[in-house]
Amino acid sequence: ATNRTFTMIKPDAVENGHTGAILEKINAAGFRIVAMKKTQMTKRDAETFYGVHSERPFFGELVEFMTRGPIIAAILEKDNAVEDFRTLIGATNPAEAAEGTIRQLYATSIGENAVHGSDSDENAAIEGAFHFSGREMF
Ligand code: CMP
Repeated sequence: ATNRTFTMIKPDAVENGHTGAILEKINAAGFRIVAMKKTQMTKRDAETFYGVHSERPFFGELVEFMTRGPIIAAILEKDNAVEDFRTLIGATNPAEAAEGTIRQLYATSIGENAVHGSDSDENAAIEGAFHFSGREMF
């Protein structure tokens, strides 16, 4: 069924000039852009967005990283969007990401891994609503 996922092009990939190449791969894979913007997360935004990871040892590093520069946030639509987008981006650790995936091509480390992709339909809706109002979705 057609559904939606939420993505962020993270500060590392924006800093390194990979925004255009990543958007091109997303487009070529057949995702329709429902909403998109360049923005920067505050510390409070990142702590809320990544709340499920608050007890993890890397939480402080994750918040620091995600707030250090602008990101591209987007809601994407396609058949089987959540699963297909996770296939397109590859494993969390770029060293384990399949050939040709966005993380294999553009990520630098497990922490600075270029892109986010929602892990379920439920989280896609929560994460999309965190960044966008209904008036910004088309
Ligand atoms: P993502 O899966 O998009 O959301 C959680 C993020 O936590 C993950 O990407 C990484 O950026 C980060 N992360 C996960 N595991 C580690 C780790 N071991 N060390 C540092 N950051 C991590």
